[in-house]
Amino acid sequence: MKIEKLVRKEIYELPSYDAESVFPKKLDEKIIKLDLNENLAIPSDILKELLLNACQEADVRRYPPPHGAVAVQAISEFFGFDKSEVFVGNGSDQMLELIMKTFLREQTKVLVVEPTFPLYTYFTQLYGGEKVTVFLRPDFSLDVDAVLKESGEKPSLLFVCSPNNPTGNQFEENDVKKVVQEFNGLVVVDEAYVDFARYSVTDWIGEFDNLVVLRTFSKAFGLAGVRLGFAVSNQSVIKYIERVTPPFNVNIIAQRLVALALQNWNYFKQRIKYIVRERERLRNVLAETDGVVPFPSDANFILFRITREGLSSSTVRDKLRNRNVLVKDKGYAPLLENCIRVTVGTREMNDAFVSALKEVLEE
Ligand SMILES: Cc1ncc(COP(=O)(O)O)c(C=O)c1O
Repeated sequence: MKIEKLVRKEIYELPSYDAESVFPKKLDEKIIKLDLNENLAIPSDILKELLLNACQEADVRRYPPPHGAVAVQAISEFFGFDKSEVFVGNGSDQMLELIMKTFLREQTKVLVVEPTFPLYTYFTQLYGGEKVTVFLRPDFSLDVDAVLKESGEKPSLLFVCSPNNPTGNQFEENDVKKVVQEFNGLVVVDEAYVDFARYSVTDWIGEFDNLVVLRTFSKAFGLAGVRLGFAVSNQSVIKYIERVTPPFNVNIIAQRLVALALQNWNYFKQRIKYIVRERERLRNVLAETDGVVPFPSDANFILFRITREGLSSSTVRDKLRNRNVLVKDKGYAPLLENCIRVTVGTREMNDAFVSALKEVLEE
């Protein structure tokens, strides 16, 4: 039997995830991993201790509380939302998928403001939506008129990443507000990096019934391996998302661990401040380095352009990799010719990255 004949058309057309290039098989201790915007400034031992506590409290013979109820309780108490306004998923990746599953009909228009996080496009394709690309302005600001021009009669979905991955900037608050106010459809504001930024729009959910805000524990809390993200929105949006979600979508350890992490917010806040300080220091160092130009960032990573003649971003990425430093080449994306994204790590990691980069530029 030809399996291809059985596979859904949308899947047949999807590119495979290139796991090997993202997760090299040989990942030894020496490697400085600054390619996936993880939070390496939180010592692993601190998180291990929280994890052990979470494990001790958990009875893994039993199914976890449905729809992450323990995590929902902790998140809504911490942020001051009603429980009916919060939904947790297995990473914000899963929240993105659940939103598509709930709201995408065939040919629903999905506006994606490029360059941005590739999963918005991936899930649009997977669920058979019609992707409409709107570009950022060359200075990476949000082109409000261009977005609203695409907001036609047909209800649509819009993804706004705030701060934006991979450009690193957070759009003007008034621009985002205007878009949420005037867009004919659901607006998803992905705040994965918001703890490193200037403002959050979660408070707007009472004001706008078409707004969904996504947050994650993967970045500020350094818990990417645990997989817990959440959506904040009005009750009716949350109610429909709940309908498409299997009951045990978040494991018990993750649920308890994020509750413990929130109890220790003061510690995480200090580490966020440290990353923000390191980000500014690293950006200054890059600004003084011949052959590269960094962009301002409101996140835990920095985008920079290689300006040394004859040197491409993919070559620099490869040469850094040979020196055990992993960064993300973004040179293929629109507006980002010759650009590389580097995660802000500890001071030691950032210094090791800068010296490897200087070697590559001077070669
Ligand atoms: C903008 C953005 N949204 C969502 C995610 C996924 O986060 P999670 O680990 O919660 O799935 C990422 C991960 O890098 C991201 O950059």
